[in-house]
Amino acid sequence: MLSPASVGHLMGGRKVARIVYEPEAIRARVKELGLEITRAYPDGDLLVLGLLKGSFIFLGDLVREIQRPLQVDFIVASSYGDATVSSGNVRLVYDPETLLEGKHILLVEDIIDTGRTLNRLIDLLGSRNPKSLGICALLDKHLADGLKVKPRFLGFDAPKEFLVGYGLDHAEDFRHLPFVASLAE
Ligand code: IMP
Ligand code: MG
Repeated sequence: MLSPASVGHLMGGRKVARIVYEPEAIRARVKELGLEITRAYPDGDLLVLGLLKGSFIFLGDLVREIQRPLQVDFIVASSYGDATVSSGNVRLVYDPETLLEGKHILLVEDIIDTGRTLNRLIDLLGSRNPKSLGICALLDKHLADGLKVKPRFLGFDAPKEFLVGYGLDHAEDFRHLPFVASLAE
């Protein structure tokens, strides 16, 4: 368990409303996801595509729980500034160098909010003729009605609050927290 003092120390004085997922809960769920993914792809080439920056910790933990050959690459889409609401504008900043054609693509996302980022990426990646295109998200706020592809693998149903930690940021802060917390107003 995390002590309030150690949490306060990591947060640099900023208050958390509550810890939503403890490190142990995340670790256990990521392990299960790794097993689910291992079973779901019995054959073919698998490319795990991490959507940066938010997925970096989740991706690092997840791929080590997938027990089959795979490749890792990244994609960078920018949709948020320092705001805590989505602007709806998605910009591709880094395009994967790895060939997508004929491979199972597993797009790894930290959290699904409006789903706009994912919708744009699904079109773009789908046009490169992958064998399949699946989504693995650590968290889903279930606010995205118009999502073109529902996550095939999901860590947790997230509360509709602004969350930080385990890769998720607020203005680039808090990504390093080993837990997921809801930020106090
Ligand atoms: P969407 O396009 O609205 O679904 O936004 C998805 C992206 O916004 C995620 O990949 C995150 O980077 C960011 N985001 C959405 N909700 C949160 C949150 O609660 N905390 C931190 N980042 C978030
Ligand atoms: Mg972000």
